[in-house]
Amino acid sequence: MMTDIRPKQGKSVFIRTYGCQMNVYDSERMAGLLKPLGYRVADAPDAADLVILNTCHIREKAAEKVYSDLGRLKRLKTERESAGGELKIAVAGCVAQAEGAEITRRAPVVDMVVGPQAYHRLPELIARAARDKGDVLDTDFAVEEKFDRLAAREAEGPTAFLTIQEGCDKFCTFCVVPYTRGEEVSRHVDAIVAEARSLAAQGVREITLLGQNVNAWRSAAPAGAGGDAWGGSDWKLGDLCRHLAKVDDLDRIRFTTSHPRDMDDGLIAAFAEEEKLMPYLHLPVQAGSDKILKAMNRGHTAAHYAGLIERVRAARPDIAISGDFIVGFPGETNEDFEETLALVETIGYASAYSFKYSRRPGTPGAAMQKQVSEDEKDDRLARLQALLERQRQEFNAARIGDTLPVLFEKPGRMDGQLIGRSPYLQSVHVCAPHSMLGRIAKVKIEGVTPNALAGALQTEDEAAA
Ligand code: SAH
Ligand code: SF4
Ligand code: F3S
Repeated sequence: MMTDIRPKQGKSVFIRTYGCQMNVYDSERMAGLLKPLGYRVADAPDAADLVILNTCHIREKAAEKVYSDLGRLKRLKTERESAGGELKIAVAGCVAQAEGAEITRRAPVVDMVVGPQAYHRLPELIARAARDKGDVLDTDFAVEEKFDRLAAREAEGPTAFLTIQEGCDKFCTFCVVPYTRGEEVSRHVDAIVAEARSLAAQGVREITLLGQNVNAWRSAAPAGAGGDAWGGSDWKLGDLCRHLAKVDDLDRIRFTTSHPRDMDDGLIAAFAEEEKLMPYLHLPVQAGSDKILKAMNRGHTAAHYAGLIERVRAARPDIAISGDFIVGFPGETNEDFEETLALVETIGYASAYSFKYSRRPGTPGAAMQKQVSEDEKDDRLARLQALLERQRQEFNAARIGDTLPVLFEKPGRMDGQLIGRSPYLQSVHVCAPHSMLGRIAKVKIEGVTPNALAGALQTEDEAAA
């Protein structure tokens, strides 16, 4: 039999993304890596030649979803093969890192397992899977190598994520991230600026800098630029934001997720000084009781956190504060939980994510005494979410009457309507011509819906926005 050695064209890949924004970024980069191999992106698994599940291990539910998806894919693969076709299945992301070869034991339908630091080698892995027919596993921690290999990329739309830091050294006792993403590694400032410039040149107006601990980012200053603005020799996130603000066509800078322990003065000052840095800070606190914060190994108290928010607000009074919360961590009593509610009352959140504690194998929290019952967790989550939702609605309603610059990102569901984002990351629905997509204009906020603001376009002139 003759082997066809021509490059195969017309293939497609379907990528399903679970978990955090970094996974979203990684999925985009995977699609970009596969494009030169002739893969276009499919929007359903049915017609795809390759399916990649880019997975999340943060909570049990997220991790288990992968196996139910693999069950469905198994049926698809069997059908495909009995019709003489082929379907390759890859598991990427944090479940791949945490479970490794265990995945192919539990789900033999999987052809490739590739960790979040190794996906830049995907083209080699696919070639190996086609050649050797066996399972392929690559979960090395090679994040520096990955950063080096992530060169130019194509932008999609006016906003983009840009990973600047990966990994975590904090070891909160509930969390798997230090095990799945490895230690804190920062990308070099020159690589970040090059990616930002290239995105801006393709019409990206807003970038969100990503990192599991984005404000732990550190880099040697670029050649000739000197040290940081505060007398240090290394640059920190505040310096990077100031530097990126000089990229002409870039209008908005955001970053996520920050850790309270890494909120330094330079970064707080950047909120006051740098207009392009958007007034939105996602700063997870997790709990309001110092006893629980200690058991979580957070390395800060509730008062320290509240003090940080006060300083951030002094720098940028209108800033929207967002957070993450966990209810029902082992040992959390009703009194401890009341302290979380009290902290939320003090801070006043514009938005927040809250979760029931999920026991993760291998983390210190999983082995702790006094696990909290599911009923208790349900009850606390409902109470916390009711409070956070009330605060979110209040924050949104307080914008009525304001005129805000809105970046238009996509068409709305109704004809003639566009959906954009306010500086505070709120969705804003506006009647505006299609030509406004990718542009920033002033919008007068006139009302709120459960999940968005509604407003009227004031001017199509960007300079006035
Ligand atoms: N580095 C980021 C991302 C962590 S994961 C950070 O520190 O915020 C995002 C959120 O998931 C965490 O902030 C936490 O609220 C939640 N989370 C992490 N592990 C969890 C667990 N075992 N159970 C429930 N929620 C968890
Ligand atoms: Fe997880 Fe804590 Fe690290 Fe965030 S700081 S990734 S919650 S260990
Ligand atoms: Fe999930 Fe990994 Fe992100 S565990 S939250 S995909 S870093």
